Amino acid sequence: AEPLTIGLLGAGSVGAQVARTLVEERDLISARVGAPVRLIGVAVRDVEAPRDWRIPGELLTTDAESLVDQADLVIELLGGLEPAGALIDRALRRGAGVVTGNKALLAVRGGELAATAAETGAPLHFEASVGGAIPILRPIQESLSGDRITKVMGIVNGTTNYILDQMDTTGAAFEDALSEAQRLGYAEADPTADVEGHDAAAKAAILGALAFHAPFTIDDVHCEGITAVTGADIEAAAASGYVIKLLAIAEKFDGEGAVLRVHPTLLPRTHPLASVRGAFNAVFVVAENAGELMFYGQGAGGVPTSSAVLGDLVSAARLLRQGTTVLEPSEPAEIVPALPIEK
Ligand code: HSE
Repeated sequence: AEPLTIGLLGAGSVGAQVARTLVEERDLISARVGAPVRLIGVAVRDVEAPRDWRIPGELLTTDAESLVDQADLVIELLGGLEPAGALIDRALRRGAGVVTGNKALLAVRGGELAATAAETGAPLHFEASVGGAIPILRPIQESLSGDRITKVMGIVNGTTNYILDQMDTTGAAFEDALSEAQRLGYAEADPTADVEGHDAAAKAAILGALAFHAPFTIDDVHCEGITAVTGADIEAAAASGYVIKLLAIAEKFDGEGAVLRVHPTLLPRTHPLASVRGAFNAVFVVAENAGELMFYGQGAGGVPTSSAVLGDLVSAARLLRQGTTVLEPSEPAEIVPALPIEK
């Protein structure tokens, strides 16, 4: 079969890992798709910039538009509104599949881009935009599509959860915890987006729009970050059995519409979300018939988030190839005894 060609836009902490897997694990990804895949280029602003993984020089380009015009599938990991928005639009209009982790863009233009995708029949996947590695958007869009979701409540920003957790458990100062989160690759390029709650607000808009099938944007989200939270607040909360978490909440009230909000919240230490430590994320979902569900995992960082991007890539590639089913066996199976008996 003809290889499916992949163009990657952006090589930051997530992009570099995606490039690495596409090069080093090409056979695995091809087997999962059911057709050969080939990374044909990585568009970056600065070819010389240091990266988490050394991308082969012949793949690097600064011409994102040409790459978009050649690829069967475009992975957008540039972040920010432009040029990401124009490039995704361009890809969708020519029927190329698009995978993106761009929460800021989706929280503003998600509805419009989804409409373009529907028009041209191009797959558009964005699992990595909320909760890093956690499969949360597809469960909301697909698994729960026969139910009515009434509430989504989550820790969806790893940086702020890491900062609050460090302040709580080690008494670290806000600034020191933030620097560490930046060093670990959790924070946005401009960490203001994390600590002021804007990143969580974008994710709240995406979660709310998908959960309630409504065209919400970041402008619909009430947003308050963690910059006013002091060590004394955290100590006082702890002394009375609470922990302070930055929560993104999307709630629907019978016949009255929805409320979307992000703010520091006092949670009893016994609440399931209270035990979410470090840069981990968790999303708690309530649906009429399903009842309570909880999704948990690594919410930030290049390697975990690359898992969601690559899952989307396989899924979009299968759609483009049509006919390849998820159940088609592609790898030899080796059975090992479940309970080895010691002699
Ligand atoms: N800066 C984000 C976070 C990255 O800390 O969660 C993942 O979207």
